[in-house]
Amino acid sequence: MPMQIDANTFMPMEIPAMTQVHEEERVMLNDIYALLAQAQPDAPLIDARLDALIHHTTAHFEQENRNMLLINFPPYPVHKEEHDIALAGMKAAFDHWKTSRDLPALRQYLETDLPAWLQQHIATMDMITARFLKMHQDKGGALDFA
Ligand SMILES: [Fe+2]
Ligand SMILES: [Fe+2]
Repeated sequence: MPMQIDANTFMPMEIPAMTQVHEEERVMLNDIYALLAQAQPDAPLIDARLDALIHHTTAHFEQENRNMLLINFPPYPVHKEEHDIALAGMKAAFDHWKTSRDLPALRQYLETDLPAWLQQHIATMDMITARFLKMHQDKGGALDFA
């Protein structure tokens, strides 16, 4: 039985578009967990899913960064810094996998480190950001979500 991130793990946001992006990543991760748990893991297929996850995560962070700038949100540098560090960590973990095929290290990152980071980041940085974005929207201000 592969590990799965439960549906209630990531806190819902006051901006539904943010909740949706987090949900998409939860589903992508759960699909990858099934591939990692196979008796003969398919490295090229895993690589393709990791590339898709990097692509999605980059767009996810850019969307939040863009909207924080739109409302002149003072904690922007702190929130963006967490994104930059997390994305660098993701790239390093995937590069290590692609050069070494070190499956235990990849599983440690994807099954433990990344979901713990996401859960914590979403419940703190994203939660407060969504609250301020919603207040801006409620006052008639525009936001920029795909
Ligand atoms: Fe987020
Ligand atoms: Fe964020």
